[in-house]
Amino acid sequence: MTTVDKSKPVLVTGATGYVAGWLVKKLLEEGYTVHAAVRNPDNTNKLQHLNAIAASSPGSIRYFPSDLLVEGSYLEAMQGCQTIYHTASPFTTDVKDPQKELIDPAVNGTANVLHSASQTPSVKRVVVTSSCAAIYTDAIDTQNAPGGILTEEVWNTTSSLDYQPYSYSKTMAERKAWELAKEQSQWDLVTINPSFVMGPMLNPKATTSESFNILKQLGDGTMKAGVPLMGLGLVDVRDVAEAHYQAGTNPNASGRYITSGHNTNFLEMGLALRDKYGDSYPIPKKALPKWLLMIVGPMANKLFSRKFIRNNVNIPWNADNSKIQNELGIHFRPMKETMEEGFQVLIDNNIFSK
Ligand SMILES: NC(=O)c1ccc[n+]([C@@H]2O[C@H](COP(=O)([O-])OP(=O)(O)OC[C@H]3O[C@@H](n4cnc5c(N)ncnc54)[C@H](OP(=O)(O)O)[C@@H]3O)[C@@H](O)[C@H]2O)c1
Repeated sequence: MTTVDKSKPVLVTGATGYVAGWLVKKLLEEGYTVHAAVRNPDNTNKLQHLNAIAASSPGSIRYFPSDLLVEGSYLEAMQGCQTIYHTASPFTTDVKDPQKELIDPAVNGTANVLHSASQTPSVKRVVVTSSCAAIYTDAIDTQNAPGGILTEEVWNTTSSLDYQPYSYSKTMAERKAWELAKEQSQWDLVTINPSFVMGPMLNPKATTSESFNILKQLGDGTMKAGVPLMGLGLVDVRDVAEAHYQAGTNPNASGRYITSGHNTNFLEMGLALRDKYGDSYPIPKKALPKWLLMIVGPMANKLFSRKFIRNNVNIPWNADNSKIQNELGIHFRPMKETMEEGFQVLIDNNIFSK
């Protein structure tokens, strides 16, 4: 890719999303015309935050109706665009039919967007929002990785349609993206692979992101008895947006980028909230024993299978985030700031008082 022409529009797929919201904000503040591809442009509830940001920014926003499952659905939205940010993909663990609800939109949707990119000569750079879920499934995978640490070289080989299908959807979608990128030379591909995204929501009343559900459960009493000491990575949503922006605008950006600020666990996420909110909200303060989780986990939540508990609880998570710091200049916010500022948005929007 040559240097970016700021007078050209940029496409953001899934612009209603939690992660995409902060990226759209950044692009509008930088003066871009954002082509926002959304499932339903008439659903003002999901767009009001973007309209408010656009009204006070130098850039402008135009909506395009698009669905991952409808072939050619993103063609109109990408006309004239040099850069595409493909963020749309279902992020939920509450599914009945993983093939239909996760794999098809993730994989066929990615193919759909990238095929259209190849038919649109203006497109030179595609940034796909992948995930650390395309690198690992369970915390134990980090121990099995070379040197005991996840890097951009590692691919998820342990998820499947039956086990952690969300991770499988992200793995298959990213594989499809690299396959299609190699078949042509018009555009180049960069993937952003965030770990668990946390921090303030721009539209907390309308989001369905799993990030919202977990943050809410840390404060609504669901986890007051304790949390599984489950290793994971955490990153601030604003840092993820900056990572996308750099991946889309830096001509030298290339390959995959682990986008993860902190190697942490669920208990530390709760503890980061206790100083400020521990007296007023039932924030978890201890870890649940693994033996107890092995007994009650599978009954309480179908995601907490014995295999999942065995492979995640009391197991540290470890990823190398040096590539994105060195190549794209990303600095990660402290975790306490991310957790507190995210939690405050839920309080300010009365999420806990229902
Ligand atoms: N949050 C995290 O911890 C995390 C971590 C790593 C990677 N990611 C990735 O980041 C991206 C955004 O996730 P998020 O957390 O921001 O979740 P989100 O708020 O639920 O955003 C998902 C977006 O995908 C869109 N979408 C889903 N199915 C679609 C379909 N069939 N057609 C068109 N659009 C569809 C949604 O549109 P509607 O508003 O119409 O539903 C929404 O805009 C995803 O690719 C996710 O895998 C997230």
